[in-house]
Amino acid sequence: MFADRVLSGMRPTGSLHLGHYHGVLKNWTEMQHEYECLFFVADWHALTTHYDTPQVIEQSVWDMVVDWLAAGVDPSRATLFIQSKVPEHAELHLLLSMITPLGWLERVPTYKDQQEKLAAKDLSTYGFLGYPLLQSADILIYRATHVPVGEDQVPHIEFTREIARRFNHIYGREPGFEEKALAAVKKLGSKKARLYAELRTRFQEQGDDEALLSAKSLLDEQQSLSMGDRERLFGYLEGTGKMILPEPDAMLTKASKMPGLDGQKMSKSYNNTISLREDEASVTKKIRTMPTDPARVRRTDPGNPEHCPVWQLHQVYSGEDTKQWVQQGCRSAGIGCIECKQPVIDAVLAEQKPMRERAQQYLDDPTLVRNIIADGCEKARKLAGETMRDVREAMGLGYS
Ligand code: TRP
Ligand code: SF4
Repeated sequence: MFADRVLSGMRPTGSLHLGHYHGVLKNWTEMQHEYECLFFVADWHALTTHYDTPQVIEQSVWDMVVDWLAAGVDPSRATLFIQSKVPEHAELHLLLSMITPLGWLERVPTYKDQQEKLAAKDLSTYGFLGYPLLQSADILIYRATHVPVGEDQVPHIEFTREIARRFNHIYGREPGFEEKALAAVKKLGSKKARLYAELRTRFQEQGDDEALLSAKSLLDEQQSLSMGDRERLFGYLEGTGKMILPEPDAMLTKASKMPGLDGQKMSKSYNNTISLREDEASVTKKIRTMPTDPARVRRTDPGNPEHCPVWQLHQVYSGEDTKQWVQQGCRSAGIGCIECKQPVIDAVLAEQKPMRERAQQYLDDPTLVRNIIADGCEKARKLAGETMRDVREAMGLGYS
C-alpha cells in the first residue's frame, strides 16, 4: 500500500568522524539512488540524554548537516530535515503514548543499558523512558517501510512494529469495517475484485504468503483508490482492521568496525577519531603518531601486523598488493613504520578530498544549508500532516 520509503535519523551530539562515514553515511548515499529517502536530525532525541548541555546540540546540528552533504547525501534525491521543525512528531508521540504500556518501554533493552552506561547522568526521566516511542513516531509518521539502523537499534524497530500493530488493532476497527471493505473491493472493478477475493481466500484459508504478496502488489497498482479504501483493503487481506500505520522493517547496516587510531572501534568516547573533514596536516600527524606493534622498538626489529592498529587501517583502505607489502615488510623489518603508514595517510586523504570540496560551498554560503533544510522540513511536514489527519480521525479527534 505504502511505497518503499526509507527513513533514518541521527542524533546531533558531536562532530561526525570516519566511523560514521563507513558505518552510516556511505550507506545513506547508496540508498538515495534506490529509494525515496528521508534523513533527519534527531535533536529531540539528543535532548533526552543531553538536556543539560543544549549548546552541544545547537552547535552540532548544522555541522552535522554539512557533514551529510560533504559525505555525498544529495538534497535533490533525499529529503533532509530537523525533527523539532516538524512538530507533528511530538503530536504523534503524545497520541501514541495513550496506548503504550509502560512495561513495554521499561523492557526495551537500551533503556537500562544506557542508564548504566551513562551513569553519571540522571536518566530516570520521562523523556528518556519515552525515547523509543518518540522514535516510533518519527518512523510511523512517514509510513516508512525501511529503517536503516545498526544492530543496537533493532529493538527500537521491533518496538515500533508492536506499537503500529496495537494502534491498527485498536483504531482500525471502525464501525461497519466489513461492509466498507466489501464496498472498496467493488471499486476495484469486477475482474480485479475477483482476483483480490481469490488471493485473500488463498491467504486466509491456506496461509499462502505468495497470494498475500500478489494481493498487496495488486493494491499497490490501484492509483485511483482513496487512502481510506486502501487502508481497508490492506487490513481486510490479513483479517485485521484498517491498516493505518504500516509496520516498518529494520534494514540492518552491516556493522562497520571502523578501527580508530588505537585499534579500538573508532568512537568519540575513546578519543581515537579522525573527523570527517579534518584538515590534512592534522590527519597526517595523527596517523604518523599512531602506536604500532610494541615489539618493534628499533627499526631493525621485525614486527607482527596482527599486533598493530595501523594494520587494521590497511585492511580498510589498502589493496592486496599493499597489504602483502606490509605483511612481508613488517615481519622482515624490511620497511619502517613511517613508511608503512604512508599509504594509509594517502588513502584517508583521498577519501576526504571530495568531502572537503563538497563542504566548501556550504561553508562559504551557509544560507545554502538553511535553504536545503527549510525545503526538507516543508516536504516532511506535508507528509507528516497526511498521516496525522488519518491518525486524528481514527482516534476520534477528526472534528473541527
Ligand atoms: N535512535 C537513533 C540512534 O541513536 C536515532 C533515531 C531517532 C532514529 N529517530 C530515529 C533512527 C528514527 C532511525 C529512525 O541512532
Ligand atoms: Fe605496524 Fe606497519 Fe610498523 Fe608493522 S610496519 S608495526 S604493520 S606500522
